[in-house]
Amino acid sequence: GGGHGGGRPLLGFPAVAPSTADAVVLPPGYRYQVLYPWGHPIVPSGPAFAEDASNTAEDQARQAGDHHDGMWFFPLRDRRSGLLCVNHEATTENLLHTDGRAAWSPEKTAKSMAAHGVSVIQVEEDRDGGWQVAESRFARRITMTTPIEITGPAAKHSLMRTSADPEGVRVLGTLNNCASGPTPWDTYLTCEETINKYFYYGEQPPPAGSVEERYGIGSESPYPWHTTESRFDMRTEPNEFNRFGWVVEVDPFDPESTPKKRTALGRMEHENAVVVRGRRGEAVVYMGDDTQFDYFYKFVGAEPIAKTRRAGRSPLDEGTLYVARFDEDGSGRWLPLVHGEPGLTVADGFADQAEVLIHTRLAADAVGATPMDRPEWCTVQPGTGAVYFTCTNNTARTETVDAANPRLNNRFGHIMKIDENGNPSAVRFDWDIFLLAGDEASGATVPPDQAFGSPDGLWFDAVGRLWILTDGTQPQVDGANQNNQMLVADTRRGDIRRFLVGPPRCEITGITATPDGRSLFVNIQHPGDTGTPENPRASSSWPDYSPTGRPRSATIVITREDGGVVGA
Ligand code: FEO
Ligand code: CA
Ligand code: CA
Ligand code: CA
Repeated sequence: GGGHGGGRPLLGFPAVAPSTADAVVLPPGYRYQVLYPWGHPIVPSGPAFAEDASNTAEDQARQAGDHHDGMWFFPLRDRRSGLLCVNHEATTENLLHTDGRAAWSPEKTAKSMAAHGVSVIQVEEDRDGGWQVAESRFARRITMTTPIEITGPAAKHSLMRTSADPEGVRVLGTLNNCASGPTPWDTYLTCEETINKYFYYGEQPPPAGSVEERYGIGSESPYPWHTTESRFDMRTEPNEFNRFGWVVEVDPFDPESTPKKRTALGRMEHENAVVVRGRRGEAVVYMGDDTQFDYFYKFVGAEPIAKTRRAGRSPLDEGTLYVARFDEDGSGRWLPLVHGEPGLTVADGFADQAEVLIHTRLAADAVGATPMDRPEWCTVQPGTGAVYFTCTNNTARTETVDAANPRLNNRFGHIMKIDENGNPSAVRFDWDIFLLAGDEASGATVPPDQAFGSPDGLWFDAVGRLWILTDGTQPQVDGANQNNQMLVADTRRGDIRRFLVGPPRCEITGITATPDGRSLFVNIQHPGDTGTPENPRASSSWPDYSPTGRPRSATIVITREDGGVVGA
């Protein structure tokens, strides 16, 4: 893949080598600073981090959560500071509490719930190019106890009602906040992904073919929240699960605002959400559902963004959700998920449009979408409007391949490209595979010295550098497993270079920059997550390297020693 256009090369750094070091490796001339690790107070006057993990649930609710994932930098007027929204996807319970998962208690559930969600912090740059978390009236934590409003077609539906919320309009918390996306109206979208891990169904798994099975519910809940919080026990509260798996909108500039679950965008294991403007000024949102054999989606707003906002309505509450079908000839179709269409009628088991959205996956199954190799992040190329998305891997693809998922036992993943010929609201498109990841033996289309696997995060910066962030199996070097990494591609020239390698056991995820491109924020998620209460530094001591501490997920800031644009 990759074109061979002209223009100035976008990449101006020498590639780094693969690494197994307990370090963040960067090209020469680059440096990084740990800005916002797990447990860091959201304002300097907040509760300090205790390196033995003895902070309480109450402390945790005023500190950085765990497992930093998608994020976005919203500049403030002075341009030296901004609001940083950071997702906290999950937790490493063995490191979150001093004694790990032992003697589970309501306090442990509360701390775990407080370590999930979103941070909104204010960060500012000093004269030396260093960054710090500042005191701020905007600083807040959104956790699993924050009230959130349910909006759009699924609000008030009978499947959305619980004993605590008989009207189906208000839910406590947002869960497994994976990736994210900014909106053109300066709000932040945070996407709920692996929600099934938090709900307990019973000793027996759900029946084959059931909705619960389709949404990943098994007979075990890796998180023991249900043992102290009854809303996570599906035997007594079956609908609470339906209130998660949505895209949630947060207004970082209004710390009193109630976040909103935007149900028109569908319910799935959402990865990220990329919003662009259609030709009529409507919002168009691209989204992946990260599960083996699940789908790629887009939402097209019914009316122009400006018109809905003037009327006090959300551009994300009314519109059409589509799912992608990738045909063998390189064309594709966006299939509308509209109640009453063939496959989506009452007779097919969908009572109304709300049910089509609450059970988005079943609706997509019914219309013949193309099962993909785990669609994770998507991003839109500046200038061309082409949509790129990662298919991270799929080792369960053992029987059939198709043109869009061409490898059996897809251990290393690939990156797709969709071309809608300049019309984001189009119902037909052309597609191509941008690259096949992996090593030479796997048939990769990447030069062997830049080999990588499991592309997950994906982001075009303002000038069109494509940042690729990995989570999962990397090609081995001399028989040794390699740490996760971040690369940059110049898609016009077909150039790709490794820019960063993380510490052991981490994934690299979450990326955003200042508008001038001179400070790049990146998240290092779950480094050293094989640590235990007895041996917390079993696989990593990053970032503190404290002999009495533990590894921590963290937001880092990458800058150039000469103050130049990162990557250039
Ligand atoms: Fe949270 Fe699919 O990554
Ligand atoms: Ca993760
Ligand atoms: Ca991911
Ligand atoms: Ca992943």
